[in-house]
Amino acid sequence: MVVSSTANDPGESLHATFGSRYVRSSLPRFKLPENSIPREAAYQIISDELMLDGNPRLNLASFVTTWMEPECDRLIMSAINKNYVDMDEYPVTTELQNRCVNMIAHLFNAPIGGKETAVGVGTVGSSEAIMLAGLAFKRKWQNKRKAEGKPYDKPNIVVGANLQVCWEKFARYFEVELKEVNLREGLYIMDPVNAVEMVDGNTICVVATFGSTLTGEFEDVKKINELLVEKNKETGWDTPIHVDAASGGFIAPFLYPELEWDFRLPLVKSINVSGHKYGLVYAGVGWVVWRNKDDLPEELIFHINYLGADQPTFTLNFSKGSSQIIAQYYQFIRLGFEGYKDIIVNCMDNAKSLRQGIEETGKFEVLSKDSGVPVVAFALKSTSEHTVFEISENMRRFGWIIPAYTMPPDAEHVAVLRVVIREDFCRSLAERLVSDLRKVLVDAEGVQADDGGSEKKAKYWRRVVDRKKTSGVC
Ligand SMILES: Cc1ncc(COP(=O)(O)O)c(C=O)c1O
Repeated sequence: MVVSSTANDPGESLHATFGSRYVRSSLPRFKLPENSIPREAAYQIISDELMLDGNPRLNLASFVTTWMEPECDRLIMSAINKNYVDMDEYPVTTELQNRCVNMIAHLFNAPIGGKETAVGVGTVGSSEAIMLAGLAFKRKWQNKRKAEGKPYDKPNIVVGANLQVCWEKFARYFEVELKEVNLREGLYIMDPVNAVEMVDGNTICVVATFGSTLTGEFEDVKKINELLVEKNKETGWDTPIHVDAASGGFIAPFLYPELEWDFRLPLVKSINVSGHKYGLVYAGVGWVVWRNKDDLPEELIFHINYLGADQPTFTLNFSKGSSQIIAQYYQFIRLGFEGYKDIIVNCMDNAKSLRQGIEETGKFEVLSKDSGVPVVAFALKSTSEHTVFEISENMRRFGWIIPAYTMPPDAEHVAVLRVVIREDFCRSLAERLVSDLRKVLVDAEGVQADDGGSEKKAKYWRRVVDRKKTSGVC
């Protein structure tokens, strides 16, 4: 690549990028630089620095899509300059969003007729979807309490301690108490009986996590619904359920169509799902759908007309990109039910194969189940020699990014490694991962057997990482 001379630097002749002065000085970090630099140099310098990021395809910490078809990449690039909020200017994009909402609502068995429009909205991800769903529950509950002349200042949500951090954000930002149902060794999802026991008159909803971030397991939404129906009957309350199906929403309909977890259950009033997880779109799209219009208080919807026509909006942000919505629609029509099913079945098979390979090392107990989201979460059988944090660090030598974390209360003493199986994680990568894991274990044992010297061992396990929380797990 050749760096051309600039208006600011007319005397400079053409240089090869690495022969130019631009690669010789350090980059501005704090202040906007005084002068411009050639675009080729800016491109080269930034892309070189980005080489030091991890490889997204080997980032097994994340549920978020890291591969899409080139045709879809082209659609994404062609819409990169479209602001989604300009609905009057980009009516087709708005129409594609509405089609996606309808398809998702049907997939989740919303009680709508064939041609009726579903109630829902595209968001930046499940986090925004959850904020919107939570706000709708809070406002509905407050309106009801006001009408009954009862206090409405102490709303709470009942949720498992395995909750994703966005629920903690919702609680803190929108002043709702979280009543967390503790886990225990061997049970890493919310116990429905304990959950429903914790419900009181201030509970705005019970959250069922359908695809736990920690182990991929589905919570038993049907059981929660059953127990809550009884409790509502006894108490006169009408506590509803929200299903956080961030990852499970695009798994269960294809693999377990008979499993009742969605709008087939009467108390399920809203569901969120991440388009950018098993919806198979790059980061930046989520969805929330409501059972029907009455579950979304009208006063939360803003009507704007300064973009050309009346546009109802219910989102936290105003502007955002359009590409992800378009990409979601591409995936829906490109893959159809059949295509999604094939991909998810492959993911499950690869998860099973990885699970088997990990078990065969003899060193680990796999805590995730064969059903649920394709995740393999595994703990060391013995932690006397090394910890999962050390293993996670050492797997980085091979390029693998595998998070390690401790479980939430009351299972904090259990520490696990977790691998998320995505569409682009194929069998040969699973085999390679197990073989690298074996190398890490053998090296560690070699060091211990060598002279028993703790110094050598400490050198090998260069860093002991003190990660108490599940931060970085998305
Ligand atoms: C259960 C659950 N809920 C919510 C989220 C947040 O999703 P997003 O990254 O789409 O905002 C996640 C992310 O992993 C999740 O696993």
